[in-house]
Amino acid sequence: MSGSLWQQFEGVTIENKYRLERFIAAGGFGGVFVAAHVVSGRLLTRRALKLILPDETFMQAQLEELVQATRLSHPNLLGCLDAGKCVLRNIELLYLVMDLAESNLAGRLEQGVLTPDEALELARQIASALEYLRSRPEHLVHRDLKPANILRVGDVWKLSDFGLVRALGTVTAARTSTLIGTPQYCPPEGYEGIISPAWDMWSLGVTLALTLTGELPFNGNTSQELHAAIARREPFLPSPLPRPLDAIVRGCLAKDPRVRWTARQVIEHLDSAATGALSAGRPRRVFNRKFAAAAAVLVIALVALLLAARSRFPGPTPASDTAIQVTSPVPEPEALQPAPSAPQQTPVKEQEARAAPVAPPAVTASEPKAEPARPPAAAEKDRRKEAALKALFAEEERRRKAREALLKQEDQP
Ligand SMILES: Nc1ncnc2c1ncn2[C@@H]1O[C@H](COP(=O)(O)OP(=O)(O)OP(=O)(O)O)[C@@H](O)[C@H]1O
Ligand SMILES: [Mg+2]
Repeated sequence: MSGSLWQQFEGVTIENKYRLERFIAAGGFGGVFVAAHVVSGRLLTRRALKLILPDETFMQAQLEELVQATRLSHPNLLGCLDAGKCVLRNIELLYLVMDLAESNLAGRLEQGVLTPDEALELARQIASALEYLRSRPEHLVHRDLKPANILRVGDVWKLSDFGLVRALGTVTAARTSTLIGTPQYCPPEGYEGIISPAWDMWSLGVTLALTLTGELPFNGNTSQELHAAIARREPFLPSPLPRPLDAIVRGCLAKDPRVRWTARQVIEHLDSAATGALSAGRPRRVFNRKFAAAAAVLVIALVALLLAARSRFPGPTPASDTAIQVTSPVPEPEALQPAPSAPQQTPVKEQEARAAPVAPPAVTASEPKAEPARPPAAAEKDRRKEAALKALFAEEERRRKAREALLKQEDQP
């Protein structure tokens, strides 16, 4: 639905509680408004309210996802406060009430790329939100992480839009034939309908690359070209990106979700880089050590002088001289080494366990090794890819039809 169509709802009050004061903008699923939360005619506060055009078949499930969003709470997740159904001008809609943000990352990027420090702050805050989602019992996956969904509230970045979040409670829920999200931010396995928290880490990698370079790391003129780039090509990154973001972006853009960096790894890497920066004060330590080494040389020279003097003028207790030992305070080697550039790799077993839902179908031992034709696993992969692409086009078609239906409704007197 175009912006002007959403605008028709300005001034409308939903459930006697939310008065739509001003239309902000439209997205793929709905229109966002500044809403006055009123109780008994009195203004309580201003919120953002998103009106969503539901899918008739999945309306209840979509509502449940929105309600689920209101149960989440983290400093880097946009607060969702209320959700429900409403009928406005004979159109059945869903709504989500959120904290009102001042701007979004997409808007910020129109003014230019982020500085490395700004990008570091963004990486930490969004990784922290993703770690929270992943650590929920349902292992939530956002699946639409992109600059337009990263909002600024005060001086904090917050991840918004949970309409697409799915609970990954079961293995079957980890696979879907529907590709949802924004294709440029979709990971390779997303095209096969495989969902896991690694999906969001890929999207974070794409977002960080864009914020630092001003360009998407994967591009294509058609959705097939884009898919080919995502699946097979190395990311376009004018190398090197500023440290420690270079390692983070590349880690997040690992094609294999089982080795892709997790949110925890990103946070740990940022922590160790910050510690490294703090101990950039190490020259002082090096100076102290140099000073100690010089002192040791002096001591040795003094002892040598003393010994020489004694040999000239032997004293009464020569045996005591042998007790003098001087150990040079040579710095222990690791103390002067730079901080490791990457966090400790998670043991493969642990990564596999974490990525269990995305493990590729097992290849049976009886499969011929030098099989020239597509093995069943690859054929199955192709089939899933095709299904996911079809689903993407079907989704576009659904949105187009919904838009048309609303346009027709608008034309009616
Ligand atoms: N809570 C909010 N406070 C202020 N502005 C918001 C809020 N949520 C969304 N917006 C703004 O409203 C506009 C539309 O957002 P919306 O989420 O509908 O679309 P989108 O993020 O562009 O795409 P998608 O539908 O894929 O999420 C964007 O400019 C966004 O920044
Ligand atoms: Mg959005």
